[in-house]
Amino acid sequence: MVGGLIWKRFSIIATFLSFVALPCLCANGEQITPLVVEELLLWVGGGAGEVNTYRIPLLTFTKRGSLLAFSEARKQSEVDLGSKFIAMRRSTDKGATWSPTSFIVDDGSLADGLNLGSVVIDEEKGSVLLIYSLCFHKYHCSTSSTMLVESLDDGLSWSAPRNLSDMLGVKSFAPGPGFGIQKQYPPAVGRLVVCGHGSIPGDGVFCILSDDHGVTWRYGAALKSIPYNQPKKAQDFNPDECQPVEMEDGSIVINVRNNNNYHCRCRMVVRSFDGGESLPVEELIFDHTLVDPAVAAGALQKEGILFFTNPSNEQHRVNLTLRWSLNKGQTWEQKAVQIWAGPSGYSSMTSIRGHTPEDKKYIYVIYEKGHIDYDESISFVKVHLYGGI
Ligand SMILES: *[C@@H]1O[C@H](CO)[C@@H](O)[C@H](O)[C@H]1NC(C)=O
Ligand SMILES: *[C@@H]1O[C@H](CO)[C@@H](O)[C@H](O)[C@H]1NC(C)=O
Repeated sequence: MVGGLIWKRFSIIATFLSFVALPCLCANGEQITPLVVEELLLWVGGGAGEVNTYRIPLLTFTKRGSLLAFSEARKQSEVDLGSKFIAMRRSTDKGATWSPTSFIVDDGSLADGLNLGSVVIDEEKGSVLLIYSLCFHKYHCSTSSTMLVESLDDGLSWSAPRNLSDMLGVKSFAPGPGFGIQKQYPPAVGRLVVCGHGSIPGDGVFCILSDDHGVTWRYGAALKSIPYNQPKKAQDFNPDECQPVEMEDGSIVINVRNNNNYHCRCRMVVRSFDGGESLPVEELIFDHTLVDPAVAAGALQKEGILFFTNPSNEQHRVNLTLRWSLNKGQTWEQKAVQIWAGPSGYSSMTSIRGHTPEDKKYIYVIYEKGHIDYDESISFVKVHLYGGI
């Protein structure tokens, strides 16, 4: 009896606490106060082993709830050219512990090797697809290829690379960097949409689409640079690396690197209403709040709230900052969170799409971080969305 009473009191207190002390998971997001609760370096460069530099971090949750992190492991130097591995680490406890690095692709000794990349989860099939390019810069090689590897066992093993250029042609196409999407809302539910950019003369945002779980692919939307297929000057219109997110109305919002600082030193944002078939120029805006040094940035839509990460500085890759918007990116909340003041480069975000309170609490960021240069290491960050109250 006594024990029962104590238990009853405890449960009343626990219920009370769950209202008072636990975060408000308000659907309107007004209580969002992000706090970094964990940070861990996943890869550190500097020439240990066969790798000189790790760059271009990607992050995703699998359907089974594992976190997969990928990066380019650049063998000889920090430059975009040269031969590389694709490095991967996997966490089955939401980022607390990680597997050792496995190298899931090795391009050998190419002068113009692989470049990442987009990771896309096919929720219907339960597969993980990773798309990258070979010979993107056409440096000592003549044909660019768009390549795909696939995992059907939660990232443990990977298929041999498949050459999508048999279907897509050999235009230079660098996916992402970031994640591709599988459409959740009409139109085109189930479609895989992977957006990326072209070579510098033939630059622009281009999306490739698959309506059969990644078996066949075709080009969809394009937002081409001006002048197209011609050398660029400072301040030309040159949409470049990009991150698509699906909004709850089924439109796809693509946050784009404004490579030549056209109109502003800030992000371009463009939207597709037809499942990635077109990117009308009427929908293109310049987001002056999102100041940017021309870099690949992270974007994520979770429960109607839009998140954005980049090194928030007009000139330099420093000051990695997390922002959020409660009105689909029309405006951004004032209280941005600085994740790292120092050198910081590319970033990408993910979150688990789950219905438990725990699933709703966190987003996860991966970014290039350093003390002198931004490409010294790749860092993983877990952010509690209601932690900073
Ligand atoms: C990929 O396919 C294209 C088109 O068939 C071809 O030109 C290219 O050499 C292939 N790339 C590789 C790496 O096999
Ligand atoms: C860092 O970003 C914040 C938010 O955009 C901005 O207010 C601040 O001036 C930035 N600092 C630097 C050094 O860029």
